[in-house]
Amino acid sequence: MNFELKTLDFALAAKEKCDALIVLLPVSFKPARDVLSVLASQALKTGDLEAKAGKLLQSYRPAGMACSRLVLVSVGSATARDLRQALSAAIGAVKTDKLKKLVVCFAAMPSADALHGAVLAIAEASYSYTTTKSKPEPRAVQRVLVGLPEVSGLKPIFKQAVAAVAGVEYAKEWANRPANHATPTLVAGAARALAKFSGIQCEVLGPKEVARLAMGSFMAVAQGSAEPLRFIVLRYTGAAKTQAPTVLIGKGITFDSGGISIKPAPEMDEMKFDMSGAASVLGVFRALAELKPAINVVGLIPACENLPDGRAIKPGDVVTSMSGQTIEILNTDAEGRLVLCDALTYAERFKPRAVVDIATLTGACVIALGGVRSGLFASDDGLAAALQAAGEAACDLCWRMPLDEDYAEGLKTSFADVANVAGRAGGSITAAKFLQRFAAKFPWAHLDIAGTAWKSGTAKGATGRPVALLLQYLLTSAK
Ligand code: BES
Ligand code: MN
Ligand code: ZN
Repeated sequence: MNFELKTLDFALAAKEKCDALIVLLPVSFKPARDVLSVLASQALKTGDLEAKAGKLLQSYRPAGMACSRLVLVSVGSATARDLRQALSAAIGAVKTDKLKKLVVCFAAMPSADALHGAVLAIAEASYSYTTTKSKPEPRAVQRVLVGLPEVSGLKPIFKQAVAAVAGVEYAKEWANRPANHATPTLVAGAARALAKFSGIQCEVLGPKEVARLAMGSFMAVAQGSAEPLRFIVLRYTGAAKTQAPTVLIGKGITFDSGGISIKPAPEMDEMKFDMSGAASVLGVFRALAELKPAINVVGLIPACENLPDGRAIKPGDVVTSMSGQTIEILNTDAEGRLVLCDALTYAERFKPRAVVDIATLTGACVIALGGVRSGLFASDDGLAAALQAAGEAACDLCWRMPLDEDYAEGLKTSFADVANVAGRAGGSITAAKFLQRFAAKFPWAHLDIAGTAWKSGTAKGATGRPVALLLQYLLTSAK
């Protein structure tokens, strides 16, 4: 999809030839004297267009205008949330195969966050997954022209938003692919493909190298599958080599059956999304490739399947992690923390300024926060505040959860240094407490995206979260 930003008043917008013109009208709308302004103000005055965000009024080939469809849409007070709602309603109303060129015109200058949110909402509303269809329909919306009263101050945020779209869509693509089309080897291929962009390097380790690193915990999860594991190391170098990088670690379980502690059959297909953390890391690198900011970032992805088989780990097995700590695997379905702990230890070698892991880690986090906010856990208050703020700015929300030492009680065991599960209570927190044991050497945060990474039901599909949050965090932390 091709996005363009242009200075456009309503008189000019009316002359843009396009399949659909969407006009965003805030409650504060001040009409000029051109045809479109008069039309909009009359529609609002008569109440034919309600002033509530998301309410819309459509027409076909309006006289004196170059568009084939016109949508007047109210955006309330034009917050990022209002715009999101208004744009998905408006695009939903005009989305057909014929919608190739779209013009979205703002009546008033949006805030930076609102413009960013609008661009992401346009992409979201026009996205569709096609990779494993036999007759993929080409993407309808090809060109989007965003018109503002004056573009100059908002060019950088527009550029960031367009890069975020590329990142979100890369993440969606890989998270949506079924597990047989997104094996650890294929995910490594998606990472390698990013190395064609300048500034990005990719290294992929296989079973032999991982054994040499003594990642006994990661290897234990992979041993029940015929698909060989991959440990993916991505590097983006935009600043001096001496500048400490931020490390992102994405959980890359390409399918989570639960292993011997097998999951129930209903909805088990959704466990193809258990590599959404990994997909978000790929997405961030895709966006960095567009933006080329002056920062250094490392991406680590432990990728494997979690399957039951004659060689699979059994409840009660004790393994030795790369850190030397021994782990009693009481539940083979708590595998995410087992692959992440070795990646956290591996991250030490980069002497990072911060490490953020991203994982569809616990069903308990879905119970706690639902699909609205990701769970945020952090050993460092500054890092927590920066991530929370980035989430607000990028409309990709998270919420901080506690890490009191008392939550680690349940992980104690007589048979190893630590158990991989505690009781049911506070499950997302005890999982984070497990990870924290491996993250003592750097400021660390953990995002549990189990509730936010994909949608279930009729709209089943990856959301691309939290690419926008992470990108916003990386770009602001660079300043
Ligand atoms: N990938 C799952 C977490 C998950 C479950 C994400 C449902 C989204 C929806 C993870 O590997 C898992 O199975 N966690 C267990 C942990 C438990 C055994 C302590 C869970 O949440 O049930
Ligand atoms: Mn699991
Ligand atoms: Zn899992």
